[in-house]
Amino acid sequence: MINALRGMKDLTFEESERFVHIVNTATKIANRYGYNYIETPILEETKLFKRSVGESSDIVGKEMYQFMDKGDNDVCMRPEGTAGVVRSFVQAKLDRRMNEKFKFYYYGPMFRYERPQKGRLREFHQFGCESFGEASVYEDFSIISMIGDIFEALGIGYDLEINSLGCPECMPPYRKNLINFLTECKNELCEDCNRRIELNPIRVLDCKNEKCQTLLTNSPKLITNLCNSCDEDFKELKELLDIAKINYKVNTHLVRGLDYYSKTAFEFVSNNIGAQSAIAGGGRYDKLVEFLDGKPTPAVGFALGIERIMELVQMPELKREGYYLGAMDKEAITSLFPLAATKRRTDKVSLEYTPRKLKAHLKNADRLNARYCAVIGEDEFKNATIWVKDLVEKSEVTIAQDKF
Ligand code: HAM
Repeated sequence: MINALRGMKDLTFEESERFVHIVNTATKIANRYGYNYIETPILEETKLFKRSVGESSDIVGKEMYQFMDKGDNDVCMRPEGTAGVVRSFVQAKLDRRMNEKFKFYYYGPMFRYERPQKGRLREFHQFGCESFGEASVYEDFSIISMIGDIFEALGIGYDLEINSLGCPECMPPYRKNLINFLTECKNELCEDCNRRIELNPIRVLDCKNEKCQTLLTNSPKLITNLCNSCDEDFKELKELLDIAKINYKVNTHLVRGLDYYSKTAFEFVSNNIGAQSAIAGGGRYDKLVEFLDGKPTPAVGFALGIERIMELVQMPELKREGYYLGAMDKEAITSLFPLAATKRRTDKVSLEYTPRKLKAHLKNADRLNARYCAVIGEDEFKNATIWVKDLVEKSEVTIAQDKF
């Protein structure tokens, strides 16, 4: 027997309904905030991710599905959605349309060669939004509110953590400070942290090792070393969240696992799904369009992990809907087709091709959660009528087929 690869899952039956419900709900809300659908290829040049997500990140360093294709191109299955959307934005020359704003949403599979565990897959799905051309922190706030709206519509509780990762003015001096601090306690930090001190010192801050975290309590904090502009924006963001009554916690160690962020960074976490608790994450990435050869364009976005949210979502109660059509004799079956065609213009219709007794049809209709069970029996066939039972009201009528 051939099974799906480790860390990759089929989406079937009840699970697929959850998936569709999440995507539909998020899409509806993203539309209300002015986002339009974008789809970019799953396969991209490897250098796209090296230049955006960053060579020092775990995603690029360890987790990429990377290979040479038949034309000897170094390609990679996308580990996330932002890089492809930015590439597409630059390729379509939208970066040259100064003063215009562009907002895109997407969903689809992402690939990371991680150690699979609950909530952590090698192929998983994200729903994400990217907003280009808006430098104001108001947009960071709008994106956070939008995610809040999505989780509210899905009936999901969350904790919101925010941080500021500074900008090219305040990050480099802070980074130096941090490296000095880390070098001093080097011998007590774990192996991973030691590897990161020079490579990506900011990532040391979110090391999961308890001993490291104790040592890091006294580390210099970027939040108290921000330049004026970053500091003002962060204050403004907190004020806007306060006014909107969106609860948050400032987490000075929230650094995100991708290198392209500046200023606002945020994560939505749930304490109901185990260790892999991040259900959405994002932030501002004002330099990324330039890194990918575009004109300077401020941008901010997020992505949510659909599989993690599938564990939490409360599905709306299933309502009976549409029609189930059946016949009791073989010769009556074909007269169901025109009836189904008419009804399908407005309603969901299930059509049974095998003649059955009435009881069996009623059972089928019930199992399919149809609102109406409509059956052509011997008499109905003779009289060109159809028997219809409303499975909610429990009422029944026999009507002419041309009035159905
Ligand atoms: P990320 O934090 O790497 O951000 O991923 C976003 C979400 O995807 C996570 O919060 C989590 O729910 C889900 N996720 C990540 N890895 C896995 C996995 N192995 N298995 C299951 N779910 C997973 C990004 O990808 C950025 N592109 C977000 C962004 C958009 N920032 C700006 N714009």
